Amino acid sequence: MRTLCLLIIIVATSSAHNFLDIVKNYVHSSGKEGKFTNNRYDFIIVGAGSAGSVLANRLSENKRWRILLLEAGYMPNFLNRIPIFVGYFQLTGFNWGYNVEPQKNACLGMINHQCAWPRGRGLGGTSILNYMIHTRGNKFDYDRWASLGNVGWSYADVLPYFKKSEKFNVPGIKNSSYHNENGYLCVEHVPYHTELATAFLNAGQELGYKIVDYNGQDQKGFSYIQANIGNGMRCSAATAYLEPINRPNLDIITGARVTKILIDANKQAYGVEYVKDNVWKKVTCSKEILLSAGTIDSAKLLMLSGIGPKEHLEELDIPVIQDSKVGYSMYEHVGFLGLTFMVNQSVSLLQSKLILNPSTLLEYVLYKDGPLSIPGGAEALAFMSTKYAPDERPDVELLFVSGSLHSDNGQVLRKALRLSDDLYDTVYKPIEEQDAWSIWPIVQYPRSVGRLTLQSKDPFEPPKMDPNFFSHPADVEIILEGVKYAINISRTKAFQAYGSRLHDLKIPGCEQFEFASDDYWRCAIKHLPSMMNHEIGTVKMGPPTDTFAVVDPQLRVYGIKALRVVDASIMPAMPTGHVNAGIFMIGEKAADMIKETWKSVL
Ligand SMILES: Cc1cc2nc3c(=O)[nH]c(=O)nc-3n(C[C@H](O)[C@H](O)[C@H](O)COP(=O)(O)OP(=O)(O)OC[C@H]3O[C@@H](n4cnc5c(N)ncnc54)[C@H](O)[C@@H]3O)c2cc1C
Ligand SMILES: *[C@@H]1O[C@H](CO)[C@@H](O)[C@H](O)[C@H]1NC(C)=O
Ligand SMILES: *[C@@H]1O[C@H](CO)[C@@H](O)[C@H](O)[C@H]1NC(C)=O
Ligand SMILES: *[C@@H]1O[C@H](CO)[C@@H](O)[C@H](O)[C@H]1NC(C)=O
Repeated sequence: MRTLCLLIIIVATSSAHNFLDIVKNYVHSSGKEGKFTNNRYDFIIVGAGSAGSVLANRLSENKRWRILLLEAGYMPNFLNRIPIFVGYFQLTGFNWGYNVEPQKNACLGMINHQCAWPRGRGLGGTSILNYMIHTRGNKFDYDRWASLGNVGWSYADVLPYFKKSEKFNVPGIKNSSYHNENGYLCVEHVPYHTELATAFLNAGQELGYKIVDYNGQDQKGFSYIQANIGNGMRCSAATAYLEPINRPNLDIITGARVTKILIDANKQAYGVEYVKDNVWKKVTCSKEILLSAGTIDSAKLLMLSGIGPKEHLEELDIPVIQDSKVGYSMYEHVGFLGLTFMVNQSVSLLQSKLILNPSTLLEYVLYKDGPLSIPGGAEALAFMSTKYAPDERPDVELLFVSGSLHSDNGQVLRKALRLSDDLYDTVYKPIEEQDAWSIWPIVQYPRSVGRLTLQSKDPFEPPKMDPNFFSHPADVEIILEGVKYAINISRTKAFQAYGSRLHDLKIPGCEQFEFASDDYWRCAIKHLPSMMNHEIGTVKMGPPTDTFAVVDPQLRVYGIKALRVVDASIMPAMPTGHVNAGIFMIGEKAADMIKETWKSVL
């Protein structure tokens, strides 16, 4: 009923701005706060994101252990669980609001040449902002991790943890030996598909591709997305791993921003310093500090605590405890947002039709079905190998979206992506309220590598993130191949039934090129890249021989005792697809490693 009332309020106010105010004002904390904050803990976990939530759940299974979970943000309200609204939350305080440094070769169509790099702040972390697409990656991704010297991380080693994490419910493939129905994290197909998404799958078959379970035996092919959705609602890390448990040995403090890891003269971590409601506090523990603040903030916290590149820390007057390559090896999946195909029928997702439409609202409220259950229009995907693919792994992903950048009339995506007025007004404003679909081609093994550094030793200042997008030209060329696949898909019978045709207004800055020529697309890709927000690698895992490794294959920080990092930052190379499933796997696996370490100790 509460859902119904709020939805009715949304309809009544009927503007996205009012809706945003509702989101912003509806913040409440977890209600599980601080039962024994003055006591000593066994473990302190920093960050209740994808990985941190798993750790809190699995470690508190041991009733003898006392666990403290510190999270800078708060509990999002239930609107966060309605998939279609996914984009809105990027415009709220549930986003840390980071931007990358101005780019030379990318983000040229964004304000000040800076792409946004949203990160979730709240119980659930970035899994409260994400598009919920669940892809594990390719077998060879993990076999490669192992071949780099990461003992215990081969596909055979990690598959049991992928399975352990999931509550899989996709009819038809449920019984596969690759899946499990009894984990915490829901994985389902979105209950509703637009006709266009079905056309995408049909187009794939027309072109000779298979429909696959991309998390099973064979990744290459087409599929509806498998998503972290249960009964039509988002399953964030917190809904999956924290809400179902209520354990007296787990303390969760929201609104608690960690500023430093405390490390003694023996280089042993023993506690953290944090700020809550403007009060600085210290809390200690007897076993380990587990850093799960994500690729950006885990690296930042290590450096603030004296673990990082010596010269860089000295420059900022931070006493160096451990010289280490924190902040290097930063990779991100980048794609292209600018492939919009116009159609001649009313079949795409247009915000004006959805939010103001009582029948779609009612369908959702009553049955958790219909267009509101689609994560912001992302419906299906394909993995394929271009002529550049170096091995048998697919090197491009095509993400199918049953809308485009104009489908919300510029109210959300335009702002979330920092599109310049010139670009939006020239290319997208003229087609507002018109039906269209898009494909975002995404390069899978980016060669451009970035670096994260601190701007100062002030813990409240954001770090400096320079991903160096497209500094390696291969990344653009692979996306360009993806563009060509997408155009071929639009020419199939399946899509021609809707009269699909490429939207051909040129992107400002690329007028000198003939529309749809290779050079036009290269220019367009640099102007309108899509950040997939899959950043990894700033706290790279590797064997002792790897001079860029910050943590060992047990995720222990080299040179420091009792400190592990457990989140996306440890990934030594990009998995194929989206990263979140892999991060849940890392959380599950780390929990077992920690239990193993302490099994003979009370
Ligand atoms: C818009 C968007 C769409 C995405 N879509 C997908 C998708 O469809 N599929 C997919 O697989 N991936 C997707 N991702 C990426 C994926 O969600 C993230 O990679 C993943 O959630 C990161 O998990 P993590 O545990 O590494 O960090 P996070 O989930 O970011 O957790 C870090 C937590 O630490 C907290 N924290 C940070 N600093 C401090 C501090 N100093 N003190 C206390 N707490 C702190 C943060 O508030 C946060 O809660 C998307 C990301 C975004 C932004
Ligand atoms: C899955 O397994 C169950 C129990 O073994 C069986 O009843 C069901 O028919 C199977 N479903 C499919 C689609 O194979
Ligand atoms: C697209 O289709 C054309 C014509 O059939 C073909 O020559 C080309 O190789 C295809 N491109 C890709 C990337 O599949
Ligand atoms: C859309 O275009 C296709 C291809 O030209 C055509 O067959 C179809 O009749 C058109 N539909 C409408 C509703 O105009």
